[in-house]
Amino acid sequence: EVEERVFSGIQPTGIPHLGNYLGALESWVRLQGQHGSVLYSIVDLHSITVPQDPARLRTSVLDVAASLIACGIDPERSILFQQSQVSEHTELCWVLGCLTSIPRLRHLPQWKQTKSNRKNEGSVGLFAYPILQAADILLYKSTHVPVGEDQIQHLELAQDTARIFNQKYGDCFPIPQPLLSVTRKVKSLRDPTSKMSKSDPRKLATVNITDTPDDIRLKFRKAVTDFTSEVTFDPENRPGVSNLVAIHAAVTGQTVEEVVHQSEGLETAQYKHVVAEAVIQKFSPIRAEVQRLRADAGYLEKVLSRGAEKAKERASVVYQEVRRRIGF
Ligand code: ADP
Ligand code: NA
Repeated sequence: EVEERVFSGIQPTGIPHLGNYLGALESWVRLQGQHGSVLYSIVDLHSITVPQDPARLRTSVLDVAASLIACGIDPERSILFQQSQVSEHTELCWVLGCLTSIPRLRHLPQWKQTKSNRKNEGSVGLFAYPILQAADILLYKSTHVPVGEDQIQHLELAQDTARIFNQKYGDCFPIPQPLLSVTRKVKSLRDPTSKMSKSDPRKLATVNITDTPDDIRLKFRKAVTDFTSEVTFDPENRPGVSNLVAIHAAVTGQTVEEVVHQSEGLETAQYKHVVAEAVIQKFSPIRAEVQRLRADAGYLEKVLSRGAEKAKERASVVYQEVRRRIGF
């Protein structure tokens, strides 16, 4: 029987937000101990597919490391590392890129969307980053990948690439399977029809896990809802208030029905306050822990370099096999 190996990544583009936490990090924490080995990577190579300021990038890597540990990623039970510290990611990316056709990449929905959103068509890196994702996964012969629904096509590319490699060079990579997040996407507080995102330029749209209680109260007070004052769950017709209900349920560990039932008789204005307080309660300890860890950059750097060592140990074995198979 094959050992189960989990891989996932998060970009170092600032402190994780509520969507990252509920859509990814919470399940990352749970996966520790359920699988043979678990690798979580701070994927800085991915983040430079769009312009990054060097000083900010450096800070962000430590912010994300502190955030992951504060949320419950245990560097003793998971391999937590910075992607660029393991050079095999880019080496395998090249190999896999040579097995991937341009039309295959061009048809990925995210690329189509990127293209239509931008005046120029973006960098080669932005075009090819799904290949780097495939390399990230296959480099550890990963069997399971926690992904959001928006990443499923990219995982399929990784699966196809594994099959193509195996067919050409002999059985090497297991076909990685998705662990789909069951949580619905957290929506932007300013536009509940789009997902909450770090790259949302709108003020008050994104709640970071280290926001102060006052910031959280303000953001929820200003959250866009609608002209009905009751609390109901109807994502189609009432995306704003439904987003609040979904967040409320997720941070308190209740079902949507329980939350709606509890909130009977509340006006949305009062309800926003209730949700804000629940979010504050959930993230206060995490915020304190991020601050504590962030004050000790030496510790974080040690965790990351130890993580990179462990990741590299595994990556180099797999990449040696790849080299041998392709005739290097
Ligand atoms: P962002 O999309 O904000 O740049 P990342 O791409 O670094 O964040 O995403 C890291 C993880 O967080 C991914 O697994 C992604 O699916 C998840 N994620 C990001 N935004 C949301 C959201 N609004 N709701 C749920 N999950 C999300
Ligand atoms: Na993203």
